[in-house]
Amino acid sequence: MKKYLLDLTVVSNERLSDRHILLKLTSPAALPEMIPGQFVEVRIDHSPSTFLRRPISINYVDRSRNELWLLVALVGDGTRTLAGLGSGDVVNCLLPLGNGFTLPSSSDESLLLVGGGVGIAPLLFFGREAKDRGARVSFLLGARTASELLELDLFKNLGNVYVTTEDGSAGERGFVTNHSVLSREVFTRISMCGPTPMMKAVAAYARKTGTACEASLENMMACGLGACLCCVEKTTEGNLRVCQDGPVFDIQKLLW
Ligand SMILES: Cc1cc2nc3c(=O)[nH]c(=O)nc-3n(C[C@H](O)[C@H](O)[C@H](O)COP(=O)(O)OP(=O)(O)OC[C@H]3O[C@@H](n4cnc5c(N)ncnc54)[C@H](O)[C@@H]3O)c2cc1C
Ligand code: FES
Repeated sequence: MKKYLLDLTVVSNERLSDRHILLKLTSPAALPEMIPGQFVEVRIDHSPSTFLRRPISINYVDRSRNELWLLVALVGDGTRTLAGLGSGDVVNCLLPLGNGFTLPSSSDESLLLVGGGVGIAPLLFFGREAKDRGARVSFLLGARTASELLELDLFKNLGNVYVTTEDGSAGERGFVTNHSVLSREVFTRISMCGPTPMMKAVAAYARKTGTACEASLENMMACGLGACLCCVEKTTEGNLRVCQDGPVFDIQKLLW
């Protein structure tokens, strides 16, 4: 898939919680084709400590407004610099990168999209595209506490939303793998993104129930283009580059 280096303009930068922003970016030309699960390498300008671009998932593509959305957790200098951007600022982005989630091939599919923390980011765009293909979509979203459950209304427009919080402030208390929906419903495929311990636990559930399952990995990256090998993951097929061969992998390939 062709990659583009684009100067995108900030439409808005909304604070969704103490630790999260939603950046909406646009371009004078139509944004390129993108697949849910792919990501963008964002250049961080005006931050001397941030030399490398930062990988951020495609949160949503709003074709009617020609907008690309990035949902960002503020963890270090790079992401905090993004939090300082305002309307009209320019962000240089390399996109779209990586392979993307498996899109449903028929309306018989019932997908469970599992996200933990900011790992919910790629699931909004995926849910939209899966719903447009006629699949039944459910989301299982986990966070530490209610204020870190983001974009819930948008998820609810696309399917059933099940929630867990570690402190019990919203939804069922505990981790996503404790949610009662897993013992009530059957899904044809699970796609997930989030902390590795969460994904390993969901992968164990999928193996036990014989459910097809794929995981989007967030290994540390540098080039994002398959050249530096700093993102490799050991798999049943040897060392694979998460930026190029992933970030989405069938769990059967992972040594989990
Ligand atoms: C394919 C991919 C998609 C991603 N999508 C998103 C997204 O949609 N939204 C989002 O907020 N973040 C996402 N991330 C994580 C994001 O890239 C990092 O949080 C970011 O690069 C940190 O940059 P920083 O300069 O703010 O922090 P740094 O100063 O570089 O690091 C701050 C802390 O975060 C940790 N950290 C840095 N990178 C990662 C990483 N990749 N995984 C886990 N911990 C990390 C560091 O170890 C350090 O403890 C994604 C990562 C990958 C690989
Ligand atoms: S980040 Fe350089 S090879 Fe993946």
